[in-house]
Amino acid sequence: MTTQRENDTLTRVGPGTPMGELMRCYWIPAAMSSELTADGDPVRIQILCEKLIAFRDTSGRVGIMDHRCPHRCASLFFGRNEEGGIRCVYHGWKFDAEGNCVDMANVPPHQDFKHKVHAKAYKTFERNGVVWVYMGDQSKVPAPPDIPATLRSAEDMKIWAAHRSCNWLQGLEGELDTSHLGILHLGHAHKGSDFLQETHKYATANRTPDYEIADTPVGSMYGAYRPAEENSLYWRVGHFAMPFWAMMPILPIERCVLARAYVPIDDDNTMIMIWGDKRGNPRTTDSNGGDFIVGYTHNPQFHPNTTDWQGRFRLKPQLSNDFFIDRAVQRTQSPSGIDGVHIQDEAVTTSMGPIADRTLEHLGPSDLMIARVRRRLLAAANGLANDGVAPPGADRPDAYANIRSGNYVAEGEPADWERVYWDKVAWARSILDPVATAAE
Ligand code: FES
Ligand SMILES: [Fe+2]
Repeated sequence: MTTQRENDTLTRVGPGTPMGELMRCYWIPAAMSSELTADGDPVRIQILCEKLIAFRDTSGRVGIMDHRCPHRCASLFFGRNEEGGIRCVYHGWKFDAEGNCVDMANVPPHQDFKHKVHAKAYKTFERNGVVWVYMGDQSKVPAPPDIPATLRSAEDMKIWAAHRSCNWLQGLEGELDTSHLGILHLGHAHKGSDFLQETHKYATANRTPDYEIADTPVGSMYGAYRPAEENSLYWRVGHFAMPFWAMMPILPIERCVLARAYVPIDDDNTMIMIWGDKRGNPRTTDSNGGDFIVGYTHNPQFHPNTTDWQGRFRLKPQLSNDFFIDRAVQRTQSPSGIDGVHIQDEAVTTSMGPIADRTLEHLGPSDLMIARVRRRLLAAANGLANDGVAPPGADRPDAYANIRSGNYVAEGEPADWERVYWDKVAWARSILDPVATAAE
C-alpha cells in the first residue's frame, strides 16, 4: 500500500522536493521545435512547477530561462526578441540564449555591470523536431538519453503533445497498466476482428494475462503473457524508464518504435509528449477491412495554443464537458462511450482528481508493475535526497538504446522470459536500427 507520505514524495516535483530533484537529473522534452521561430514571439512554458520563457534567437539557438528578469523580476514574456537575445521591456536589459546580460539600456557606461548579471537560463538542445532542457546542476550536464524513438528523424515519426489536467504519475501509471487495453479501449472488440489480428488478437481473446516484472538499468519492465498457439505464449513487454518515460507494447517488437514522456508542468498538470513511428503503426480509424471499432480512434481535437502557462496542447474533450461521453454508444457499442484511445485514458486518469489519493487503492495482480515502479522511483528519489546517489540512467544515456517495448510469440517457460526478451531485442534491433540509419 502507498502511504500519504509516499504519495507526496512521488507526486510533488517543485524545486527542492525529492522527486523534483530526481527529475532535474535528466534531460526533459520541453517544446516542439516548431513552437519557436527565430526572432519570433517568446513562449511561456512551465516545467516542474517553474515558470520559464522560451525563445529562438536570430541565429536559431533556443534559450529557456526563468521568466523573471534578474533586474527587478518583470516577466520576460513581454520582452522583445531582437538581434541575438531578448530585451526586457521594463528597463531594457537584454539577455542572450545562455542568459548572459549583453546590454543594460538604463545604466550609464561607466557604471555598467552586465558581466555580473545572468538570467537563470538552462542548457537546451534540439533533436528531430523537439527542444529539450536540462534543469539540474548546469555545471554537470549529462549527454541526452539514447531513447530510440527520439533518435529517429522527424520525417519518420509522428510527434505530438497533449496537456493533461492531473499529476504526471497518474498518466504514466496508465501506460504501465496494460490490462485496461482489452477493457477500456477494446472491451467490445471481438477476437475475430480483422483489425486485431496482427497486434491484439490474443489480448482480446484473453483479458486476464499473467505478469512477470524485472528491473532494467534505467527503470523497470513487465511481461504480460497469455497462451498463444500450442506450446507458445504471447508476450507484451512494456517499459518504464527514468524519470517519466513509458514505452508500451502496442506493436510487434520488430516494428515498435515509440515513447511517451509524462513531463510535469506542475503538480496538477502534465504535458505528454508522444513519439510514434509513422511506418510502424498500422492502426487507423476505419481502413481495417470493415471491422471498425467504435471509439478506437487516434485523432484527438485540440484548441489552438494560447500564451497562458497552461495554454498549450489543450484538448477539446475535457472533464468539464465529460469528454463528450455518449451514453447510448456506451450501452451498446463501446465500454466507455468516449471517442478516442487518448481521450479514454485522459478521462479515467483525470477523473481520479488532480493528485490521486493512493491510500484509498486496492491494488491487484495487474498492478504489479505500478507497484514496482513506485518503489523504484521512491528508492531513487530518497537515495538522491539522502545519500546523493545518482538515479538510474541519469549518467547512462547509452543504456536507453536497448529499451524496447513490443509484443511477440515465444516458446519456453515464463521463468525464462528475460533471456528470451533480450534475445528478441537484439533481433528487433538488427531489423530496426539499420532502417533508422538508412532513413537519416
Ligand atoms: S525588470 Fe527587466 S530590465 Fe528592469
Ligand atoms: Fe490506455
